[in-house]
Amino acid sequence: MSVAIQTNSPYPVPLKENGLLETYKENNPTHAIPQKTLDLEVAALRKKIESIPGFNPHVKFDPKKHIVFKEEYWSPKVTPQYTLDDLKITKTHVPPLSDFGAAFPFPLISEEAVNIMLWEGLQPHVLEKWARLPNLATGANRLDFHIGGYAKTEAPFSWAFFRSPELSEIVSKFCGFKARPLYNSEVCNLNVSLATEDPEIADTYPKTKEEIDAILAKQDAGDGDAIPSTLGLHYDSCSLALVIMMDLPTEAVGGQTTIVTGDEKSRRVPEPTIGSATLIQGRVLKHLASKPVTNHNRITCVAGMAIAPPILDNTALTSTKPSVLSRARYNTFYSDWTTYRFENLELRLKYLREKLAKKYEDGEEFNQEEVICWCTEMEEYMHKTWDEMEAVHNPPYPAKIFSTSYDELN
Ligand SMILES: [Fe+2]
Repeated sequence: MSVAIQTNSPYPVPLKENGLLETYKENNPTHAIPQKTLDLEVAALRKKIESIPGFNPHVKFDPKKHIVFKEEYWSPKVTPQYTLDDLKITKTHVPPLSDFGAAFPFPLISEEAVNIMLWEGLQPHVLEKWARLPNLATGANRLDFHIGGYAKTEAPFSWAFFRSPELSEIVSKFCGFKARPLYNSEVCNLNVSLATEDPEIADTYPKTKEEIDAILAKQDAGDGDAIPSTLGLHYDSCSLALVIMMDLPTEAVGGQTTIVTGDEKSRRVPEPTIGSATLIQGRVLKHLASKPVTNHNRITCVAGMAIAPPILDNTALTSTKPSVLSRARYNTFYSDWTTYRFENLELRLKYLREKLAKKYEDGEEFNQEEVICWCTEMEEYMHKTWDEMEAVHNPPYPAKIFSTSYDELN
């Protein structure tokens, strides 16, 4: 028996004129990576990785060998770190999980790990199924695309790395709460901007230092949405974003993550070197990832992280659902998402049930107010699991909240 859904949304279906992808159920075939890109730039990059002496893509992930993080990197003296307060952010659109704002680049994985992870994501069958040109991007072309959702089934090394307790521990100590990676569709996302091998297009990039500086200065002075990027100004749908640099030649200029601080100014996060990472509380920090100003590759691997159960996470569907994010495959994405949310709720319920039993055994008086709070929180969590699904609500994208100043937030 099917149940009719009652919805009062002014946006019952995703519409192209609202910035949404109408073919989300067919996995957005219009945004597949052009053959020219696959044959030219991607094939060249894969070949470059395969020709590295001693390269073996079948090496098993070994945290002792492939994670190069050292204890001293947690120190603010070694890794610059910013609280929300340091970034002048006092108002947020959802409650922050801690005062952690951002950690600037710290070494995380070895060169071998970078190469294997890149190789796994750049396989032709992976690209065909799991890579798409971005939906809305400023100044993007056939060389800018996203790959994601493939880790669990296609990339054993990457999957083992992102699921490793060692990685969760590194992130947890930075952000001040117990963190863990999100579900498959949101843990191993390659954001790719490739240099063109096309001489005609290559000619349009700035060459001299003066030309490059002029473009950077213009970007810094202007509005964030005008900066060329594959993802405009936004809040993340995940609580924390761990961004690992996978490819960026030393001569590349521009292309950093830019954070909008509480006084609505842009602050560029220094670019990590290959194998290094940055971490931000992206759910509450407005930011964007810009493209390099020069004709160079920039590939990052992003993992969404969230608070670990039995605390309920504050993740959302806003920027990750298939009608917004072209690479998200309908069936895989929603299976990943709902399983993740249901599991968290199960763990929360189990935790609260055991807490109740313990209180009774200890002879404590039953606390109705407390139980009502628990139930309300779980009801809200359940509601947030479906309230942005395409079946019920498809407001214009980019979301209004992305262009709202911090000051205007309640
Ligand atoms: Fe982001």
